[in-house]
Amino acid sequence: MKICIIGSGYVGLVSGSCFSELGNNVICVDVNKEKINNLNKGLMPIYEPGLEELIKRNYKQGRLKFSFDISSSIKKSDIIFICVGTPINKKTNQANLRYVNNVANIIKNNLNKYKVIVTKSTVPVTTGDKIEKIINIKKNKNKFDVISNPEFLREGEAIRDFFYPDRVVIGTNSKKPNTIMKNLYLPIIKKKSRYFHTSRKSAELIKYASNGFLATKITFINEIANLCEKSNIDIKEIATGMGLDERIGDRFLRAGPGYGGSCFPKDTKALVTTANKFKTNLSIVKSVIKSNESRYKFLIARINKIMSNKLNNKKICFLGVTFKAGTDDMRESPSLKIIPYLIRKGCKVRYYDPSGPKSNFKNNNIKYCPSTKDACVGADLLIVHTEWNEFKQLNFKTLVKKKIFSIFDLRNLYSPLKMKKSSLNYFSIGR
Ligand code: NAD
Ligand code: UGA
Repeated sequence: MKICIIGSGYVGLVSGSCFSELGNNVICVDVNKEKINNLNKGLMPIYEPGLEELIKRNYKQGRLKFSFDISSSIKKSDIIFICVGTPINKKTNQANLRYVNNVANIIKNNLNKYKVIVTKSTVPVTTGDKIEKIINIKKNKNKFDVISNPEFLREGEAIRDFFYPDRVVIGTNSKKPNTIMKNLYLPIIKKKSRYFHTSRKSAELIKYASNGFLATKITFINEIANLCEKSNIDIKEIATGMGLDERIGDRFLRAGPGYGGSCFPKDTKALVTTANKFKTNLSIVKSVIKSNESRYKFLIARINKIMSNKLNNKKICFLGVTFKAGTDDMRESPSLKIIPYLIRKGCKVRYYDPSGPKSNFKNNNIKYCPSTKDACVGADLLIVHTEWNEFKQLNFKTLVKKKIFSIFDLRNLYSPLKMKKSSLNYFSIGR
């Protein structure tokens, strides 16, 4: 198949390189010329395990190309994937469809033969109808189908999630594009994953409902963790005990600093706004958003308690600052709220993240260190913020080289019992 991927970000690059790995001819396009030039030089714009190898292999084979010539790339292709961002409009809490609409207009002007237009970006219910309306001018009649194929990959696990998805959802009421998409996904759906054909609007809502539900699961366990802290119970035992019930399942029951990232925060808000438009009150999702947004205040209160309210001039070390392990993505990371607070309180913050330094922190009192060792030395408090593997078996005493210091493990990576036996001043979440 000849595929054009519009928007070469996390979703576009992963989908494009994976489709090319399956033998398709793929052109990934983007408006960001620097990104495309770098990709053509073999420089990766994002950190995603396994992606660089996949891109280099398929680029070398000539199956994967990068271009900023969107019009000619559309003309050359049979299937067009829209993978541009749909950020939240902070004033209206609606998904901003500016980029999607731009792309729909470009497609409208470049339909030289029949094409399947696939929305992979996360878009509110009825967006497919709107894209169809934009493209459906006289000269384009019967030359296209707009379908929905929401993406469920997670950053850091994206390649695996793409090749072994739990399900592939295709939303269309027409037979022709469904047959084309089934063929495209055949090598993947053979591997146990389910191909679920549904209406376009259902596919759009399945995506938001899934993210809303996962965000709810995480927020639920975080609130139970608060109860565990007060009642001296270990949240990990509660999550395991609950998860053994197959109706509940143990995934996404890890208590932590609250969900972040480019999707759960924006998608929960957009879902509520869509429901409001349809005069439906999604009260559960609304509470989830509120609870998650205030979680950092709870963490700050705990930090103050650990430090006996004496933060001024304290040396704080952050291990990991990204919103989760396996990605360089800082979008809506809890660290973006906690670190500025600590700086305001007069702390000196040093951090190390395996994905490198971040441009988000511009203050003389926050410094990136090139290793765990450099970041930890002399700290009064270590905050284990992101669950990168390399933070899972540290010898804190050797690293800090100080008599009195505390550890606040936001990811419950360590056993409280073992830490107590080592006489370490250790605190974690819900335990
Ligand atoms: P991203 O910001 O990483 O990438 C989007 C890319 O689109 C950018 O490179 C941007 O330059 C490009 N772009 C914008 N307008 C363009 C245009 N007119 N023509 C060509 N390129 C254009 O975004 P992302 O994280 O890949 O997310 C894309 C969509 O997929 C969003 O709707 C998101 O909610 C959804 N999604 C993301 C993930 C994820 O893990 N990041 C997972 C599932 C779904
Ligand atoms: C999430 C979904 O898992 C994907 O299925 C979806 O495709 C994607 O959003 C999207 O729509 O963009 P992602 O944001 O990459 O993927 O990361 P997750 O692994 O879901 O983690 C999201 C947040 O929840 C992180 O901050 C993570 O630390 C937190 N989390 C996750 C927990 O606190 N506890 C858990 O048990 C799981």
